[in-house]
Amino acid sequence: MADVTFEQVTKRFRDHVAVNNLTLDIKDGEFLVLVGPSGCGKTTSLRLLAGLESITRGQICIGGRRVNELPPKDRDIAMVFQSYALYPHMSVFKNMAFSLELQGKSHAEIKQRVHNVTQHLGIGKLLHRKPKELSGGQRQRVAVGRAIVREPAVFLMDEPLSNLDAKLRVKARKEISKLHSTLKTTFIYVTHDQVEAMTMGDRIAVMKNGILQQVDSPSNIYNHPTNMFVAGFIGSPAMNFFAVQRIEQGEKAYLRLGQKLINLNQYLPQFLQDTGNRSFTLGIRPENIYHPRYLPPDIQGFKIRLVVSMIEMMGSELIVYFKTQDNLELVARLDSRIKVSPGESLDLLFDTQRIYLFDQNQQTI
Ligand SMILES: Nc1ncnc2c1ncn2[C@@H]1O[C@H](COP(=O)(O)OP(=O)(O)O)[C@@H](O)[C@H]1O
Ligand SMILES: [Mg+2]
Repeated sequence: MADVTFEQVTKRFRDHVAVNNLTLDIKDGEFLVLVGPSGCGKTTSLRLLAGLESITRGQICIGGRRVNELPPKDRDIAMVFQSYALYPHMSVFKNMAFSLELQGKSHAEIKQRVHNVTQHLGIGKLLHRKPKELSGGQRQRVAVGRAIVREPAVFLMDEPLSNLDAKLRVKARKEISKLHSTLKTTFIYVTHDQVEAMTMGDRIAVMKNGILQQVDSPSNIYNHPTNMFVAGFIGSPAMNFFAVQRIEQGEKAYLRLGQKLINLNQYLPQFLQDTGNRSFTLGIRPENIYHPRYLPPDIQGFKIRLVVSMIEMMGSELIVYFKTQDNLELVARLDSRIKVSPGESLDLLFDTQRIYLFDQNQQTI
């Protein structure tokens, strides 16, 4: 077991900065998910930690020890790669046993450890097979098993579920979470999938363009995103954004959204203070927009007239795409009992307490 710290770590590939001044503390035994769009520097961060890339600037510590100069094999970590990287000519047993043989473990101990892990993962009957004789799900388990069998202080997983179909992914997600609670080892898990991040992580670190945007619990990341990028990246369908202007009439301040004036004095008192800014972005999640007839208690808000442009019936809910009178587009998750059809006009209610405002630098106000 070990904690991991990135201290002002930068990785530059020629003129491209893949990881930019990353400072991140991962606690001993924590399940940290590193999430962000493709190319944001997730894999590079893991490879720096694993010792597969050299650090341009800064330092990385594992269990309080600086590892910058330490070769990968001495870092006490195991990595599950996106491609699994199983040795194709070796059996499942051999794939798992290989690193233990390199460590000089006895044959009896290797057999025992591989046996325990494969039983645990439900792949005990596959030991003699070659990777090409396995299904995608089985390969994924072998890759995870090969990492576990080494009993490392830190597990690194780089999109280990991305090659599985949707159903298997949900199952494997739960298995990995369970594995973490059994092993209680530090897990650093990379994904571009915000659902995986939300469901698996003790904490989530959101990255964009090599820069860490926010590190927090799933609930805080969802409810208190630090900026527009995090707000838009977490949640599906994504948060709606609209350009709005602050205007004053008498004593009161309003937000103008197209032709609509929204009175926010009651809900956003800080907004009353004129900071000189006039232009903002208003954000509202699709799940915080309601049909007035299917309104949970205690929801207050303002109504906006919208025209239905497209409907996706999900069974449990309707995903409805709208246009405003000013031709702005918007998506809402509505109660599946609602009957709507394209072209229809509706007054929807926006939950005022779930509105986000962002300044011109896209930071949350
Ligand atoms: N060996 C490399 N040489 C040059 N550029 C690289 C190399 N590895 C990664 N990059 C670049 O660094 C950026 C981050 O890559 P990566 O860490 O793989 O992103 P992610 O895993 O988040 O998709 C990308 O723009 C990628 O093209
Ligand atoms: Mg990657």
